[in-house]
Amino acid sequence: MEEMITSLSPADTEAAGEALARELLAAGTRRACIALRGEMGVGKTAFVRGFSRALGISGVRSPTYTVVNEYRGDPVPVFHFDLYRIADEDELYAIGFDDYLARDGYILCEWSENGGDMLPAERIVVDIARTLSNENERIITRSNA
Ligand SMILES: Nc1ncnc2c1ncn2[C@@H]1O[C@H](COP(=O)(O)OP(=O)(O)OP(=O)(O)O)[C@@H](O)[C@H]1O
Ligand SMILES: [Mg+2]
Repeated sequence: MEEMITSLSPADTEAAGEALARELLAAGTRRACIALRGEMGVGKTAFVRGFSRALGISGVRSPTYTVVNEYRGDPVPVFHFDLYRIADEDELYAIGFDDYLARDGYILCEWSENGGDMLPAERIVVDIARTLSNENERIITRSNA
């Protein structure tokens, strides 16, 4: 299933993230892996910020240098990964990615392409793309792996 929405502002992109979190919660899902795709500066972190807000988390910042930021969400924790600086799946393994997969929590992963096959096959893919019409416009497409 694929779902597409148009975002015209960072607030719209945050709202799309918030909506996804609310859907997962409503479905009783306590574990999910969400791969965020899209070029640099397109709004992946903005999406995570909105998603996290639905779990009572504020102050989401990019984990580019730390690779992962953990947030104690209510009722589900959020593990925000940025694999931009990860070279391959061995490096991802070395930072303990497996341990996160074994826990309840929502894993949101920027630059998941760098993680190779470490990400579970069952994942939600959120692709964010710019458009030619307006510098603040994004098309957000959500699909299941
Ligand atoms: N519709 C929109 N949705 C999201 N961000 C937008 C939008 N329009 C403009 N922006 C701007 O785009 C930037 C998105 O930054 P953000 O850090 O979320 O991107 P990113 O994809 O996480 O980047 P990186 O690949 O460097 O991690 C912000 O400066 C934001 O203000
Ligand atoms: Mg980012």
